[in-house]
Parts: sequence; structure tokens; C-alpha cells
Amino acid sequence: MIRLGVNIDHIATIRNARGENHPDLILSAKNIKNYGADLITVHLREDRRHIKDRDLIKLSKLKRIPINLEIAANNKMLKIALKFKPKFVCLVPEKRKEITTEGGLNLSKNKNIIQKIVSKLNSKNIRTSLFINPNINDIKIASYINTKCIELHTGKISRLIKKNKNYNNELIKIKKCAKYASSIGLEVHAGHGMDIKTAKILTKIKEISEFNIGHFIIGESIFFGLKKIISKFKKICK
Ligand code: PXP
Repeated sequence: MIRLGVNIDHIATIRNARGENHPDLILSAKNIKNYGADLITVHLREDRRHIKDRDLIKLSKLKRIPINLEIAANNKMLKIALKFKPKFVCLVPEKRKEITTEGGLNLSKNKNIIQKIVSKLNSKNIRTSLFINPNINDIKIASYINTKCIELHTGKISRLIKKNKNYNNELIKIKKCAKYASSIGLEVHAGHGMDIKTAKILTKIKEISEFNIGHFIIGESIFFGLKKIISKFKKICK
């Protein structure tokens, strides 16, 4: 069974739009866990555009809910991770102006700092993961760095699937990477841009043990929830 990590950044985005506490992020994390998700993923961005430090303080107190903290690979974010000790940390590349995480880490360029961060997190028993593009060379570096897991960026295959384009080459690439990574002892995760169709396709790769999905799940919950909330209001209006 593949573990499902639900990224709740966009719940914070909606909450932040009003500067108050609705929708309550912590309550959403508890509910998401109760509804069957295996972990809650949050990306504490350097510009704090969605998840805030105070969210992390509260989330890290929820001992029943495994938190997967996504952070940029630098000492400032490492310090925060070591302070709050989430169960899992995933290092991601981060650009100030990007809308979402564009592509995986540049491991060749940032090998030393990433290795230092991973080693520190490993020593504190925090599960480490590196968000990388599906390519064998990065997997070799990831293994050298001694991360426990890799998360393969599924943005490209997700885009192709959504546009009804041929995604076969990308699927083969992801499959090869997942098999190779698993054969050298890395745990393989997948995430970014995934929807139901992508998830169904990727479940066929047996080496993938975790999905991290945000935008689609939060967006789709609007359609699942609107009926209930509108009828609630209509009852009040009667
Ligand atoms: N995995 C990682 C490492 C990410 O950075 C993101 C986006 O924050 C996701 C998964 C989830 O992507 P999406 O919101 O497109 O499902």
C-alpha cells in the first residue's frame, strides 16, 4: 500500500487571505489524518507565503500526526527543522518568485550543503528525503549523500497526462529511476502536480511507497464539499 501525504499549504493560503483563523489549519490536519491520510506535508517557505512558523509550532505538537516538513536546503531552515523535529524532512529547491516548486534539487551544484543537512537530520532520526528530477545521476548523488528517501518530481508526467499527450517516455524514465533507486536501498516517493489519473498510473510502479499530493486534493475538496455546505445554508435561510 502506498502511503498518502496530503500537502495542506493551500489551506493556509485560503486562511491567510482573510488574516483570521478560518479554515483552521490544525483542525484540517487532524481531520485529514482521521480521513485516512498517512502524513501531513507542509512547505515552510522562506517568504512564509502559506505555512507560518506558528503553524509549525502547533503541528509539531500533534504527536499522532506524522509531519513531513519541506524546506529549502540551507542552514536557517535546518535550524528550524532541528528545533521542531518533524518526523520527516524533504529538502526542496526554492525560488522566491516561483508559484510552486519548479523541478528538483540541483544535487551536483549543492552536494556539500545538502550532505551536511542530511547528515545532521539523520543523526536526529528525522527521515530525510530529497526532491529530485527523475534522472539516474541525481539518484547516485542522493545515495552518496546518504538520504533515506528520494521524492521523484512528477510535474512533467502530470502535465502530459492532463493535456492528454503521450507520457510514455516520462513514465519509463520514472519507472527506471524508481527501480534503480530502490535497488540501491533508497525509499522512493513521488509528488507534484498529481491528480487521480496520474496517481492511478503511478501506482503501477511498485517501488513507489509514498505520494505527496496537495493542489489537486485541496482543489477537488471544493467540489466534494460545496453540496453539503450550500444545503446547510439553505436550511438556515428557510
Ligand atoms: N512534493 C513536493 C516536494 C512539493 O514541493 C510539492 C508542492 O509543494 C508537492 C509534492 C505537492 O505538489 P502539488 O501541490 O502539485 O500536488
